[in-house]
Amino acid sequence: MSTLVAGGLVVNATGAVEADVLVVGERVAALLAPGFPVEADEVVDATGKYVIPGAVDAHTHMEMPFGGTFSADTFATGTTAAAWGGTTTIIDFAVQAKGASLLSTLDRWHAKADGNCAVDYGFHMIVSDVNDTSLKEMESCANAGVNTFKLFMAYPGVFYATDGEILRAMARSREIGATVMMHAENGIAIDQLVARALAEGRTAPVEHGLTRPPELEGEATSRAITLAAVTGCPLYVVHLSAAQALDAVGRARAEGRNVFAETCPQYLYLSLADLAKPGFEGAKYVASPPPRPAWHQAELWRGLRTNALSAVSTDHCPFCFAEQKELGRGDFSRIPNGIPGVEHRVDLLHQGVVRGEIGLARWVEICSTTPARLFGLHPRKGVVAPGADADLVVYDPNARQTISAATHHMNVDYSAYEGFELTGKVDVVLSRGRVVVDGSGFRGAVGHGRFLTRGPNEYLV
Ligand code: URP
Ligand code: ZN
Ligand code: ZN
Repeated sequence: MSTLVAGGLVVNATGAVEADVLVVGERVAALLAPGFPVEADEVVDATGKYVIPGAVDAHTHMEMPFGGTFSADTFATGTTAAAWGGTTTIIDFAVQAKGASLLSTLDRWHAKADGNCAVDYGFHMIVSDVNDTSLKEMESCANAGVNTFKLFMAYPGVFYATDGEILRAMARSREIGATVMMHAENGIAIDQLVARALAEGRTAPVEHGLTRPPELEGEATSRAITLAAVTGCPLYVVHLSAAQALDAVGRARAEGRNVFAETCPQYLYLSLADLAKPGFEGAKYVASPPPRPAWHQAELWRGLRTNALSAVSTDHCPFCFAEQKELGRGDFSRIPNGIPGVEHRVDLLHQGVVRGEIGLARWVEICSTTPARLFGLHPRKGVVAPGADADLVVYDPNARQTISAATHHMNVDYSAYEGFELTGKVDVVLSRGRVVVDGSGFRGAVGHGRFLTRGPNEYLV
């Protein structure tokens, strides 16, 4: 089977060129001068549109256990929504329960995802129980293609790791060539602020934001960077939301350290004011870290321009407003933490191009190329080039759309971006050479997605 994606502007992280893309089987066979005569079974007309590498979302949570419930997207629904939005690879998190082994956890996550994904997928491992067995098993995980381990400085009693445990896990990661991903919020201090707020009868969703101040993200980020320096372990800071944390990452990177960070669309577009919406509405925006006062957004865009921030992931973690967010009515600390977004990252970041915050090539870089390179998927993913997987998005930069829960494909009853009017829209999506989304709708299949064994981080020095 061959497909010619003809007439488009091919945009890679290195720049843009007018070219036709010939796909044979599952891979890109060639980039051809526009109109170069070639036979193909199917032609996709990309005239007036961009052709970009399928986006890589390095941070999602499908079917994630949290606060007595599970995130509402299954691997099937979540990866289908991802495809609709031009994301052709996700990296989700297997979650070690206290007392469980890492390898049995990995088996459980394979059982959930294998055969149930519409796009390709990989796993990171959340280590909630740092002990001798877990530390030993980290190497087997890495050999099984899961070489990134998330630790938490937040959520005492659940995922939280002490500084000593973090130090041990980092030293082990350094030994086996793995990277530690860090949820950097000072959970011990936050728990005190939460207890005080509840004792004083402050129970509304906005308190979630007020009890997790940006300073405590900045402090934890600095501490994580210090622990990484002491151990020589590469560090990837997840869901960075605050200027204070960005400053710490920027300084470490300026010193030439192996410190990387992502932010998420919710921190670029939402703010504490959303958490403060009347009634219980703010629960829709409860995630950790919380959306910050709006001035942080300009800092994050600056970080994206200067490469202090390497990538944008969604931290897609959907909980339905009607039944799940409801668990925290009357006590904000019980609101399941997470915001849906896997479908809209590419579109939301394209607004950065439209508004002149970032260039076209940088858009591709932060949505696709850098995540692929950081997480050992490049050059198979993240680039439109001969030999790469034919994960392609034909993107119409002039189409208009309005985000709404009534039309999105994620399995969740609200959108954090309801009513956002966007310029640009995904037109056609190919996953490993197969057209999975086009004007006629979803043409892919649950089960098409394959597990990706990931290699080393390409940026390590
Ligand atoms: O609130 C969030 N971010 N939920 C997902 C879990 C995590 O910490 O990434
Ligand atoms: Zn986290
Ligand atoms: Zn997350």
